[in-house]
Amino acid sequence: DVNANADGKRRAGEEAARRVQSGMTVGLGTGSTTAFAIAELGRRVRDEGLKIECCVTSFSSQNLALQAGIRPLPVESFDRLDISIDGADEVDPQLRLIKGGGAAHTREKIVHALSSEFLCIVDPSKLVSQLGAFRVPVEFLPVSLKLVQRELVKLGGDCALRMAVKKDGPVVTDNGNLVFDVAFPPFDADLLEKEINTIPGVLENGLFARYRPSEVIVGESELRFLKR
Ligand code: A5P
Repeated sequence: DVNANADGKRRAGEEAARRVQSGMTVGLGTGSTTAFAIAELGRRVRDEGLKIECCVTSFSSQNLALQAGIRPLPVESFDRLDISIDGADEVDPQLRLIKGGGAAHTREKIVHALSSEFLCIVDPSKLVSQLGAFRVPVEFLPVSLKLVQRELVKLGGDCALRMAVKKDGPVVTDNGNLVFDVAFPPFDADLLEKEINTIPGVLENGLFARYRPSEVIVGESELRFLKR
């Protein structure tokens, strides 16, 4: 249920924020779970004098960080990060993820690949035995729409162009691109992640098999920690 999920998201988000120490460089993901981590980090900066440098993965997380009193630096100013914190749409038993429900997965993958430690924070509803009930988000250049669709269909995919809610038209990402949400028959996530990214025009897909988290924090009444 929605309230139990919100509570789980808050617990996981706050626990991740507690792991951050002064002097660390921090990557902040996107979504409602990460929002709790950003708010708690802001509180620690104000109340505890926590000193951090961070970067964000979306316009929306930039706003949340600024509201929390954290001034993010551009992602490109970091050659590595100590820790990154982010939610997920699905987590499998090998800690592989589907992300991109907020269309921010391209920058998220860049930030997690830069980071020594990637903490993934979820409520229990995100845990699945097999990835794929959540459609795989694929960000692509608008000019490549027909080609990307044709090639995704060849891979067995059923593509839905992500449409905006309060606009007559598609979702445009923070990078100015479009997103297909793609349903696949059962797949090997490690293989499919690479295959999708070989299609000309594709920026990035939401499968995180290569850059999976170091740890998943599951927000339940007792926190649960899944490690590789
Ligand atoms: C953003 O593009 C996604 O990768 C989010 O991390 C994912 O959708 C999780 O969002 P919630 O924390 O809001 O469930």
